[in-house]
Amino acid sequence: MSFRIQPAPVARLNRCQLFGPGSRPAIFEKMAASDADVINLDLEDSVAPDDKASARANIIAAIGDIDWGEKTLSVRINGLDTPFWYRDVVDLMEQAGDRIDLIMIPKVGNAADIYAVDALVTAIERAKGRTKPLGFEVIIESAAGISRVEEIAAASPRMQAMSLGAADFAASMGMATTGIGGTQENYYMHREGERYWSDPWHWAQAAIVAACRTHGVLPVDGPFGDFSDDEGFRAQARRSATLGMVGKWAIHPKQVTLCNEIFTPSEEAVGEAREILEAMEEAKRRGEGATVYKGRLVDIASIKQAEVIVRQAEMIGM
Ligand code: COA
Ligand code: MG
Repeated sequence: MSFRIQPAPVARLNRCQLFGPGSRPAIFEKMAASDADVINLDLEDSVAPDDKASARANIIAAIGDIDWGEKTLSVRINGLDTPFWYRDVVDLMEQAGDRIDLIMIPKVGNAADIYAVDALVTAIERAKGRTKPLGFEVIIESAAGISRVEEIAAASPRMQAMSLGAADFAASMGMATTGIGGTQENYYMHREGERYWSDPWHWAQAAIVAACRTHGVLPVDGPFGDFSDDEGFRAQARRSATLGMVGKWAIHPKQVTLCNEIFTPSEEAVGEAREILEAMEEAKRRGEGATVYKGRLVDIASIKQAEVIVRQAEMIGM
C-alpha cells in the first residue's frame, strides 16, 4: 500500500506511432495524412550517418511546412553514445517552430541520460523564449535501460511515454533472435510431443508498464518488423494491450490500421464497462460494495478497471 496517488499520464491518444526516416521527406505528407495518433520523424537508426545533417534540415522544414493536424509530433534524436545528438536537439529547438511536441530519446540507460538532455533543452527553451514546453518520450532497448527502468520513468516532468525497442533490446540482452518483436520459434515449452509458444518480451513489457504506471508515463509497445505478418502483429499488440500498454509503433503505413484496431476498445467492451459502472452505482445506492454482473463478481476495483476503458473511449470520442 502507499498513500501516494498513482499519477495520471498525459491525456492524449497514443494508439499508433507512425515512423518515417528523416532522409525520406517524400513520405512526410503521407504520414501527416495517416490515421496515426503520433508521428515520429526519425533522425536515428533509419538514417545513414552521411545523411544526418540533411535529414535534420528536412525535418526542421517539415515541422513548419506540413499541416500535422491534431497529431502529436515527435522527432527521434540520435543516442547519447553518438556525436549527433546534441546537434539534433540544438537545431530542432533553435530552428523548428513551436509545432513540435516531443523528442524521443533512444537507448536510454539511466536517469542521468534524461537529465543531460533535459538540461540542454531547458537552457535552449529559456534562451529562445520558447513558451511551449517540449515533452520527452524514450525507448527502453538495452540491458541497462530495463535494469533502471523505474528511475528513467521518474527522471523528468517532461516524460510522457516510454516504448520497448525489441530489436536493440534483443541485441543488448544477447538474445538468440534477429526478429523484431513477436513470437520466437525457439521460445517454447514442450509437453507430450506438443510445443507451446511463450512470450520472450513479457518480462520487459511488464517491467515497463509497472515503471510507467508508477510515474504517470504512457507505456508503448515498439516495432514489429515483419510487416507482411498481420496476424503476428495482432497477437503481439493484443498481448501488449492486455498487459497495460496503450499503443504500438507502425514501421509501415499498413500497420496503422492494425494498431488502431487493437488499441481502440471495442463497442462491446465499452458498453460492458459502462454497464459495470451503472451496476456499481446501483450497488452503492443499496449500500453494497460488491455485486453480480453477468454472473461474475464486480466490486470497487472493477470500477477502476471499467474507468480505464471508458476514459479511453471518451478520448476517442466513442
Ligand atoms: N509512412 C507513410 N507512408 C509510407 C511509409 C511510412 N513510414 N513507408 C512507406 N510509405 C508509403 C510509400 O511511399 C508508398 O506510397 P505510394 O503507395 O503512394 O507509392 C506506400 O506507403 C507503400 O510503401 P511500400 O512500397 O510498401 O514500402 P517502401 O518499400 O516504400 O518502404 C519501409 C518500406 C519499411 C522501408 C518504409 O515503410 C519505412 O521506411 N518505414 C519506417 C522505418 C523507420 O522509420 N524505422 C525506424 C523505427 S524502427
Ligand atoms: Mg533502436
